Amino acid sequence: MTNHILPFHFLPFFSLLLSTATSSFIGVNFGRVADNLPPPSAVAHFLTSQTTLTSVKLFDCDPQILQAFANTGISLTVNIPNANVIPLTDSAAAQSWVATNILPYHPQTIIRYIAVGNEVHFSGDKTLIANTVKSMKSIHQALLSANITDIKVTTPHSLAILPPLMSPSSGHFQKGYDHVFFGPLLEFHRRTKSPFMVNPYPYFGFNASMIEFAIFKKNDGVLDKATGLKYYNMFDYLMDGVYSAMKRLGYDDVDIAVGETGWPSAGDPTEPAATLDNAISYNGNLVKHLNSGKGTPLMPNRTFDTYIFALFNENLKPSTSEKNYGLFRPDFSAVYDVGVLKSPSQGKGPAKAPVAPSPSDSDQKWCVAKAEATDDKLQGNLDYVCSLGIDCKPIQDGGPCFDPNTVRSHASYAMNAYYHINGQQDYDCYFDGTGVVTDSNPSYEACEYVA
Ligand SMILES: *[C@@H]1O[C@H](CO)[C@@H](O)[C@H](O)[C@H]1NC(C)=O
Ligand SMILES: *[C@@H]1O[C@H](CO)[C@@H](O)[C@H](O)[C@H]1NC(C)=O
Ligand SMILES: *[C@@H]1O[C@H](CO)[C@@H](O)[C@H](O)[C@H]1NC(C)=O
Repeated sequence: MTNHILPFHFLPFFSLLLSTATSSFIGVNFGRVADNLPPPSAVAHFLTSQTTLTSVKLFDCDPQILQAFANTGISLTVNIPNANVIPLTDSAAAQSWVATNILPYHPQTIIRYIAVGNEVHFSGDKTLIANTVKSMKSIHQALLSANITDIKVTTPHSLAILPPLMSPSSGHFQKGYDHVFFGPLLEFHRRTKSPFMVNPYPYFGFNASMIEFAIFKKNDGVLDKATGLKYYNMFDYLMDGVYSAMKRLGYDDVDIAVGETGWPSAGDPTEPAATLDNAISYNGNLVKHLNSGKGTPLMPNRTFDTYIFALFNENLKPSTSEKNYGLFRPDFSAVYDVGVLKSPSQGKGPAKAPVAPSPSDSDQKWCVAKAEATDDKLQGNLDYVCSLGIDCKPIQDGGPCFDPNTVRSHASYAMNAYYHINGQQDYDCYFDGTGVVTDSNPSYEACEYVA
């Protein structure tokens, strides 16, 4: 969904990606459809000094940017635009492309991935689609000829590659492209140990009655009847849809990476879900979920290199929501913080950005289960909170909050942790009417409630 206008109605329900690498990163897309962005060197300095982001994805291979990120420790994903993909099927052209665009900057600039094309299926250009894997192979070969083995070649896909998901386990690639395109592509990924890259956007195609599911808020979950697995967020739901499609072709061992995902923080009146609260919830909980390393129901413990969309708000994008995907404004002030800003002691000086709404009152408050809440509902709260990657070890066997071993006690601990991690806003203790905010500290003995 990057540099083109999406006909949303045409998109199926989702998209996404993953990787089993233990050193997965959270990075950000550096989209530049704007006329007010800071120079690349300032961006590189800002990212290294003020944020914990360790990778940046480009929509081009701009030499100024490659130069700016030299010796920063931040890795890059560079992109070969769709218009240049077909000519690079030629091996001499690919060698020349590598010689011009990569060799002068490698290895002082760390290049993690070369993305060949962008959402080629979404383009609808059959000749482009038919040549993409060939071009990837040609670039990969050109890298090997130059003795470069640490740069992987991939291509990002919108989730339009899957028909609308009836359930995660039913995920499959569009007929006609499954064996012809995705089989050879996944074979290439397996052989070269590169990830299959997807762009899952719960923002596109979520069910309006299930917004909580889309933005990682408390919800009743969605059951996949075929597997018996329950999903509490749409990101996992989409990722497992992709995984199922890969598995159907016999490639469930191939890593998945997320090329783009995000949520707009503002929209016009026709885009009511594009709000600051929703963007904070989606991106903030996504970061926690990814950092937890839990993976998804079908991919336990798998981690995914993930690029949030986007670094900056982009003022030349067409719609209000498209202009407002950024974590930062062009002056480097934060639109909101999702846990990617260094604390002042880590950074050089205080983050200059005013950060989004945080609770103003300093009185200590906790969130606990209401007396009249049923165990059934509380179990749901417990499952949900722990599925987000919030630390539930204290309530597990051997932890200081395991006793009393009751659903009510464990749920209260988890609900309080959720409430605090989300900034103690009253609605984060709502839990469908089963939570209540209290100013009396529920901690006991060695069991310390998050405060
Ligand atoms: C690549 O490495 C091989 C073996 O070390 C060497 O013979 C060859 O000249 C190198 N090629 C390039 C382009 O550096
Ligand atoms: C949206 O979710 C509701 C509640 O689960 C369900 O009844 C409805 O069929 C869903 N709509 C679509 C389009 O999936
Ligand atoms: C995932 O990790 C946990 C904790 O290390 C471990 O107990 C569990 O067996 C792992 N599950 C799988 C499927 O690898």
